[in-house]
Amino acid sequence: MVVVAILAAGRGTRMKSSLPKVLHALGGRSLVEKVLESVEPLSPSRRMVIVGYQAQEVKAAMQLNSSLEFVEQTVQLGTGHAIQQLLPHLEGYTGDLLVLNGDVPLLRTETLKQLLLTHQQNQNAATILTAQLPDPKGYGRVFCNGEHILQQIVEEKDCTPAQRQNQRVNAGVYCFRWQDLAKVLPHLEANNAQKEYYLTDAVTQVGLVMAVDVADYQEILGINDRLQLATAYEILQRRIKEQWMLAGVTLIDPNSITIDDTVELQPDVIIEPQTHLRGKTSIKTGSRIGPGSLIENSQLGENVTVQYSVVTDSIVQAGTRIGPYSHLRGHVEVGSGCRVGNFVELKNTHLGDRTNVAHLSYLGDTTAGTQVNIGAGTITANYDGVKKHRTKIGDRTKTGSNSVLVAPLTLGDDVYVAAGSTVTEDVPNDSLVIARSRQVVKPGWRQKV
Ligand code: UD1
Ligand code: CA
Repeated sequence: MVVVAILAAGRGTRMKSSLPKVLHALGGRSLVEKVLESVEPLSPSRRMVIVGYQAQEVKAAMQLNSSLEFVEQTVQLGTGHAIQQLLPHLEGYTGDLLVLNGDVPLLRTETLKQLLLTHQQNQNAATILTAQLPDPKGYGRVFCNGEHILQQIVEEKDCTPAQRQNQRVNAGVYCFRWQDLAKVLPHLEANNAQKEYYLTDAVTQVGLVMAVDVADYQEILGINDRLQLATAYEILQRRIKEQWMLAGVTLIDPNSITIDDTVELQPDVIIEPQTHLRGKTSIKTGSRIGPGSLIENSQLGENVTVQYSVVTDSIVQAGTRIGPYSHLRGHVEVGSGCRVGNFVELKNTHLGDRTNVAHLSYLGDTTAGTQVNIGAGTITANYDGVKKHRTKIGDRTKTGSNSVLVAPLTLGDDVYVAAGSTVTEDVPNDSLVIARSRQVVKPGWRQKV
């Protein structure tokens, strides 16, 4: 049985941010969500998050996950002090406690499993995750004897110049036999350079402690400033892109593409350069996205193409072509076999199958049926300055170029709207509507003036 505790109470001063450090985003998730994600497959019996600095914000950001227990550390006196806050909550608990820093987001679940296994097989009082870093700057240095038995952890600020040369560092990930840790926690002292209660001091007091070196040191990168955030993003991007390429997705010029880890792609999707896939986006097989596109929180069906376009919070069905230079936003649904073309903006709009909006249009709060043709420059006037209104367009209806559809408005099925019309009243099925002044030609005009 294992209880997980995540340290997320610190401010993260070095981020120089008004946002608490653990809420900074790394791809589609915050740092602390990434940490949670890495422990989820271990099926912990409890998930405790220690919050303090801007506790309300951190809680609010994580509230969707109802299995979390939040423990408040009202003043932040160090990582050891943070874990002391668990004492009343874990009274009588006899299992293991897995502690993770909320700012170490790249851990693999496999690594945590390895840590737990070593801990349990050797019946250690504690087992800590360590790494050999080419540049150990900023991390606590870990000293062991030959058998991976821990002797000492010294924070960088407390290191002698000789100790600073040690490249084995503390990852900030620990497995404790809780009963042993609970005994030493109340006796921690803050006599160190930072005047903090260090969890690392407790580690050396609990009894037999082993260190487990992680194979890939990139996993334990801690985020303390924006440089480290950018480095972690690079590592994460490389991982995500490798995963998709091996799963059958073509990335053309992968370095110019970014993909959040919340995105789902099917084999034979092609992503062209300078394309960014964010949030809860999914793209089905045969689709070709980019170059130069941003797709966010959207679902694209099979064989969809998107060129130089922005698509957010939208659903696009199979075989539809978007762009170049289209903008779909705010709950757009486009049917199959549609064409949404050059300089077209769609907002809160639903297009039926095989409907085209090919050039220079704005459709807002609109429902269009199937096989509709929206002529070049058609605009819905959906906003009267106070309220938004809907426009309904029936099946097979065609709007002429430069029509203005003033909402609320319903055009029936098989309606033809003459070019240049400003339509303000509903039009029944099978009608032609002409809503413009008749052309007047005055011959010989120049001679008269
Ligand atoms: C810590 C370790 C260091 C290790 C490094 C790995 C200690 C004393 N040092 O140092 O050995 O190499 O992590 O990344 O533990 N936090 C609280 N309450 C507090 C203070 C911090 O919840 O009072 C949280 C922070 O929000 C953060 C985590 O604990 O998520 C680590 O704190 P941080 O100040 O970043 O520790 P480091 O100096 O990086
Ligand atoms: Ca840190």
